[in-house]
Amino acid sequence: MSFGNRRIKFALFGLGRLGVLRARILAFQQPRIELVAVCDTKPGTDKWAAENLPPSVKYFSDPQECLKNSGAEAVLICTATATHAPLILQALDLNLHVMCEKPVSVDIATTQAVVEKSASRPDLKFLVPFTRRYDKSYRQAKALIDNGDLGQIHAVETTGIDQADPNAFFVSFSEQSGGIFLDFGIHTVDAGRYLLDVKSGLYNPKKQVNRVIAFGQLAVYGDLAKYGDADNVWGLVEFANGKILKTYLGRTLTSGFEDTTRLCGTKGHSIISANSNVEIRDHLGIRTQSVPDAFTLFDATFLTDLAEFADAVLDNKPLTCQPEDAFEAGKICAALQYSFRKGVPVYFDDNGLPIME
Ligand SMILES: NC(=O)c1ccc[n+]([C@@H]2O[C@H](COP(=O)([O-])OP(=O)(O)OC[C@H]3O[C@@H](n4cnc5c(N)ncnc54)[C@H](O)[C@@H]3O)[C@@H](O)[C@H]2O)c1
Repeated sequence: MSFGNRRIKFALFGLGRLGVLRARILAFQQPRIELVAVCDTKPGTDKWAAENLPPSVKYFSDPQECLKNSGAEAVLICTATATHAPLILQALDLNLHVMCEKPVSVDIATTQAVVEKSASRPDLKFLVPFTRRYDKSYRQAKALIDNGDLGQIHAVETTGIDQADPNAFFVSFSEQSGGIFLDFGIHTVDAGRYLLDVKSGLYNPKKQVNRVIAFGQLAVYGDLAKYGDADNVWGLVEFANGKILKTYLGRTLTSGFEDTTRLCGTKGHSIISANSNVEIRDHLGIRTQSVPDAFTLFDATFLTDLAEFADAVLDNKPLTCQPEDAFEAGKICAALQYSFRKGVPVYFDDNGLPIME
């Protein structure tokens, strides 16, 4: 069924680093969305909203008020990770469609409760948009796989390295983010799940993973030790059908942000990488330009996922990411973080849950 030119009314929660980017997209770049309200608990965000958004957008400093009285039909939750799950549950109870930034929670039981709740409301759309699934290059690589051009993909290697930050923002951020695997690795692990066929050939469909193991270093930012975190980590995931994912994550690259993924297929390999084709040749040598951060590299994805979500709500079109994807990636990342912290491999049980004491 088509609703013609109808636009879905949205409220945005969180006006932080990602939230302000999302707010501008919702207000000015989504033909099928009308931003009716924004909410942030931090003083000063009202001023930002007044200066940068249309006057018709209502500002709330109280999330409860906003959930109940904004007039929205859907919410985008872009707040601190610990607040995601309670806001999702309340929004679903208030009959609102929900899109929420990753991760749902750093805790497996909480993520499971949210996923079950969303399954109990098939009338409402629920989306955790994993950036790489909306990226042109990843979609191109996926098409190569689906066409059989690379043969059977037996392994994937993903690399994500943030530009080194002289202010070490992510050191204090680590206290609430759950650590590098849950905060950052959830993207690269999801990319691995997207590109590997991890569901075929399972003798027990509940169990997609056999075991994981992780290693890490404090190469530059020693203060991360306080939070059981590291600035360079390696994670290996053995899926139950034999496929292998290796992920390398870092916070210390001096040249810029890097995202590189290698697909290992029986007929060929493919590498997705963000290198620019433009070369500079000068007294420093030959080099290409890099991007400073993931927001810049994946900027188009923040429009594509919202457009897809609007189409799903208005026309009942399918979504690229399912709630199960957020749950599976969340379990793997919790297990990898645990493996790094404890120095042990983590096995998964027959219910598909990591065994962590
Ligand atoms: N590519 C991606 O998928 C991607 C990229 C960046 C961040 N994220 C996720 O987006 C979320 C936000 O990240 P960020 O970097 O913008 O964080 P941030 O700390 O810069 O901003 C969070 C904002 O939420 C506000 N807030 C906290 N609790 C609130 C509540 N209950 N109601 C309303 N506002 C509240 C804070 O005041 C703050 O302004 C995080 O969960 C992060 O993991 C996803």
